[in-house]
Amino acid sequence: PATSLQDIIAHAKEYGFVFPSSEIYDGLQAVYDYGQNGVELKNNLKTLWWKAMTQLNDNVVGIDAAIFMHPLTWKASGHVDSFNDPMIDNKDSKKRYRADQLLEGKAEQYEKAGDEARGQALRNELGRLQGAEDMEGLRNLIISEGIVCPISGTANWTEVRQFNLMFSTQVGSVAEDASLIYLRPETAQGIFVNFLNVQKTGRMKIPFGIAQIGKAFRNEIVARQFTFRMREFEQMEMQFFVRPGTEMDWYERWRDTRLNFHKAVGLPAEKLKFHIHEKLAHYANAAVDIEYEFPFGFREIEGIHSRTDFDLKSHQELSRKKMQYFDPEINQNYIPYVVETSVGADRLFLAVFCNAYTEEVVGEGDTQKTRTYLKLHPALAPVKAAVFPLVRKDGLPEKAQQIVKQLRSEFRVIYEERDAIGKRYTRQDLIGTPFCIAVDYQTLEDDTVTIRYRDTTEQVRVPISELKQRIGHDVSM
Ligand code: GAP
Repeated sequence: PATSLQDIIAHAKEYGFVFPSSEIYDGLQAVYDYGQNGVELKNNLKTLWWKAMTQLNDNVVGIDAAIFMHPLTWKASGHVDSFNDPMIDNKDSKKRYRADQLLEGKAEQYEKAGDEARGQALRNELGRLQGAEDMEGLRNLIISEGIVCPISGTANWTEVRQFNLMFSTQVGSVAEDASLIYLRPETAQGIFVNFLNVQKTGRMKIPFGIAQIGKAFRNEIVARQFTFRMREFEQMEMQFFVRPGTEMDWYERWRDTRLNFHKAVGLPAEKLKFHIHEKLAHYANAAVDIEYEFPFGFREIEGIHSRTDFDLKSHQELSRKKMQYFDPEINQNYIPYVVETSVGADRLFLAVFCNAYTEEVVGEGDTQKTRTYLKLHPALAPVKAAVFPLVRKDGLPEKAQQIVKQLRSEFRVIYEERDAIGKRYTRQDLIGTPFCIAVDYQTLEDDTVTIRYRDTTEQVRVPISELKQRIGHDVSM
């Protein structure tokens, strides 16, 4: 049977990857914690992204900006005025829904029933009303389509209201003149406001990029599908500053570069696709998503946007600071155009985790059973190798611990002596450890060990002196 999201959630929790936040208090909706294995996998993904962006590309440097920013930042970026979801409440169930999602659901129903034309017509009308920010129109459409609340079964709807997705808080004590500030809803603005700082101090020449990994916060109303849509999440974003007129070329290049990254971390080509946006965000003149086929369908993991000079120009207006660059090649001052790549670390984690989760039927007849393991790229695995003494006596534990000591400065290696060796293999399979190294009596004689490979369960005998090189070869990317 196909893997369900429930299998993924259960496995993530059972083996220390992802826990619901504050679980002892029954959790906090759309907020999650990474456990002892999850944090390793997530860190490995972040490190690979950082390396791919800043080390393997010309002219891309990193920064780490603060989560809090001057409130005018969000006025300039358009988030105060436009970062809204149209919400509607059902008066009977008191449940709140995103108006656009109710209508999209209806369009999907038409399409599934074979009425493509009607589905498309509904989508077009939805697009038109959203574009015109016509809240009354959205409500009328929900009513005329006969959409009912799945909980109460009634169509007793309130008006549609715009609901801003930014979280806010106060800086300073209330008694003093405290001011309202926001938790950043994207990391990108920390890059825009630092554009000239980096350009000048780094003597950067256009085209160049600035990369950043950091937390972002959105008050998502419809929070579902595990870590796919969270209220607190992490973004890995890069803004690439280019000469106006060259942006489409860079947009296409980054789109392809980023798709290749997802393939390199192990996501199969047939589970990845581009989705070109027809309806563009307030800042973009071209946009494409990279989608991955999750157990719940193809969904966005990364967005590549051509953001024009929207952000820098708007910051220049509000801050009254010049955001221009002097281009010595053409002897001109201009506000650069920006191509952005933006991927959610948590979404990428979820995609990689779903893809790695493998159930295989092994054995025959009475001995048939299901083997579950995480087929992670060795570079991503939380533990690279586990070292086992066959038995807990005769100097085997000491020998095994010596091997751990030899390898631990290079890779994350663990020592494990509890339970039968078969059980130990199984435990490592479940967290995706690519290599298990067993120390037996022969090891004491000739300094060889067996390596057992996770994916094939094949075992080969190798000299201890070769371990570093063999493992090193596979865990590099
Ligand atoms: N700076 C552009 C920007 O923020 P976005 O499409 O809103 O664009 C970019 O977000 C990426 O951030 C998404 O592709 C997704 O991977 C991730 N992301 C956005 N909202 C998220 C959420 N609520 N939970 C988890 N990841 C999210």
